[in-house]
Amino acid sequence: MQKIIRNSLLLIALLGSNVFAQSAPAQASEGKALYERICAACHAPSNVMVSSPKAGDKAAWARRLQKGLEQTTANAVSGIGAMPARGACTSCSPAQLREAIRFMAGLETTSGAEQSPP
Ligand code: HEC
Repeated sequence: MQKIIRNSLLLIALLGSNVFAQSAPAQASEGKALYERICAACHAPSNVMVSSPKAGDKAAWARRLQKGLEQTTANAVSGIGAMPARGACTSCSPAQLREAIRFMAGLETTSGAEQSPP
C-alpha cells in the first residue's frame, strides 16, 4: 500500500518536474543537465509532495551538507529515505551525482578549483 502511494507521488512529481527546468537560470554545467534529466523529478521546488531538499533551497542543503559533500553524495549513491539509489539513474557515476548536488545546493561547480564543503 505504501509503495502504491509512493509511486503515485512519484508520478505527480514527474509530471510537475518541467516547471523548474524552464525557469532555471541559464548556466552550462553537467550538474544542471543531470538535475534536469533525473533529479528534478523529485528535487524541483514545485514538488511539495516529496520530502526532498529542493534545488536552490540553500538552507535545506546547508543542513544536509553539515555531514560533508562526500557523505551527502555517498547517501545519494546508496539511496536515503524515499530516494532510490542514485535517484534511480543506474548509469550515473558518483562524480556526476556530486555535480548535480552542487548545482541543487548552489555551490560552485568543479569547472574551477575544487571547493570544500561548507
Ligand atoms: C524518486 C525521487 C527522487 C529522485 C529521482 C532523486 N531524489 Fe534525491 N532525495 C529524494 C528524497 C525523498 C530525499 C530525502 C530523503 C530523506 O532524507 O529521507 C532525497 C535526498 C537527497 C539528498 C540528501 C542526502 C543526505 O545525505 O541528506 C541528496 C544529496 C540527493 N537527494 C541527491 C539527488 C540527486 C543528485 C538526484 C539526481 C541524480 C536525486 N537526488 C534524485 C528523492 C529523490
